[in-house]
Amino acid sequence: MFQTSYPVSGTGFHDRGAEMSRLVAFVEEVRAGSPRWLAVIGPRKVGKTSLIVELSRRSPDVDFVVVDTQETSPPSEEIFRTCALRVVDTLLGHELPSSLEILVATGGDLDAALHGSATFATLRPPLKASIRALGLRKLTNDLLRVYLDLPERLAEALDRRLVLAIDEFQELAVGARKTDVIRSSAAPGSATAASATSSRARAARCSRT
Ligand SMILES: Nc1ncnc2c1ncn2[C@@H]1O[C@H](COP(=O)(O)OP(=O)(O)OP(=O)(O)O)[C@@H](O)[C@H]1O
Ligand SMILES: [Mg+2]
Repeated sequence: MFQTSYPVSGTGFHDRGAEMSRLVAFVEEVRAGSPRWLAVIGPRKVGKTSLIVELSRRSPDVDFVVVDTQETSPPSEEIFRTCALRVVDTLLGHELPSSLEILVATGGDLDAALHGSATFATLRPPLKASIRALGLRKLTNDLLRVYLDLPERLAEALDRRLVLAIDEFQELAVGARKTDVIRSSAAPGSATAASATSSRARAARCSRT
């Protein structure tokens, strides 16, 4: 039966050669150390999410974190807390006793969970403070800026390649408080935005290997 409710990947993914080539080139730039933004824009059900899911499958050496703005209802800047938490879970999760995203949602003890991570212990104090701040209840504009910057800062600190894909990005323009960040980033139409990050220092190291 033909299924349109779920994105496709692997053997279910057909064609899209030109689009996939552009996305693969995008990931190549991430590997080479160029942080950048990319928006995948198209009509409903044209296959945007499938492209990102399949790109992730074909990029085993890059960490992909996918977040859908409709996971928070109504869509709001809270999604950037979710993005940051999911990035921390992806990059540090193997050393944590539980998912930080779940801990924050259930009022668990964030500090206790982070205490057991040897990698967390090596981070610089400002970055540690930013990660701990993911548990703060009230989302101020300053805190929003911290959450927005955290994925790139953590990937740089850990020397990891990361693609953060925000699905249904355009919904943020509807529900958000219209901060400068949101106003300048949200595209019209149906969209997936991917923020890719890697440090320039890392690029220099890569070019020698
Ligand atoms: N490359 C592909 N090969 C085969 N089928 C595809 C492909 N891309 C998409 N489809 C079909 O189209 C449907 C919609 O795909 P997908 O959810 O990726 O689209 P979308 O543009 O993200 O949709 P939405 O606008 O709802 O977010 C899938 O369930 C699948 O049936
Ligand atoms: Mg989609």
